[in-house]
Amino acid sequence: MRPRRFVVAVTGASGAAYSQRLLELLGASGADIHLLVTSWGRRLIKDELGMGRFDLDELTRGHAERVRLHNENDVGGVPGSGSFVHDGMVIMPCSANTLGRVAAGMTDNLVHRAAACTLKERRKLVLCHRETPLTLIEIENMATVARAGGIIAPLNPGFYLGPTSVQDILDFMVGRVLDLLEVEHDLSTRWEDHVSDSSPGDDSSS
Ligand SMILES: Cc1cc2nc3c(=O)[nH]c(=O)nc-3n(C[C@H](O)[C@H](O)[C@H](O)COP(=O)(O)O)c2cc1C
Repeated sequence: MRPRRFVVAVTGASGAAYSQRLLELLGASGADIHLLVTSWGRRLIKDELGMGRFDLDELTRGHAERVRLHNENDVGGVPGSGSFVHDGMVIMPCSANTLGRVAAGMTDNLVHRAAACTLKERRKLVLCHRETPLTLIEIENMATVARAGGIIAPLNPGFYLGPTSVQDILDFMVGRVLDLLEVEHDLSTRWEDHVSDSSPGDDSSS
């Protein structure tokens, strides 16, 4: 049986640290990763992760051997074919531009093409959009992708688990995406592990 295999795309939205953590944990899980990075995604990786030049080993925190990096302009790359069987595609972070192109069914780079194939083959597509506030254009694009079977998972961390570091905030989102991909992890992201038995308004513990 082949190892699990995922397509990960990084586009030019803020949040490169999320993709770094996702790649690290997918690599550690033993999955194969087909990585697509747009030119604006590379710019964000360099700026936000402080990389002088794009470095796959640093981006994956030592799991580069699990990654096949594709040229974003090569729409003939293997993830651009519906015959390429995989276990899910994540666009993290997903720019409003890429969201709009996926919603419109445009396929002028390998990210859009791979996303279109993932939808048409009824495989799992997760879009981790990052922008705020939203216009009706983005909201309608999200609705279109959701109707086509995609999962909209905005980079929108919760605070109910009491994060005390940026790492906790990254892990919250990455843990939710790993859950969507059905990849096991031991991040501390589950309410059931934190919840107490108190009811709303019950301050009997004080
Ligand atoms: C520093 C910087 C931060 C950006 N952050 C975002 C963002 O958070 N969300 C977004 O939708 N676009 C953001 N953009 C704009 C996108 O990079 C731009 O729309 C680009 O065309 C996206 O191309 P891509 O989808 O091919 O990566 C940012 C651009 C820069 C330079």
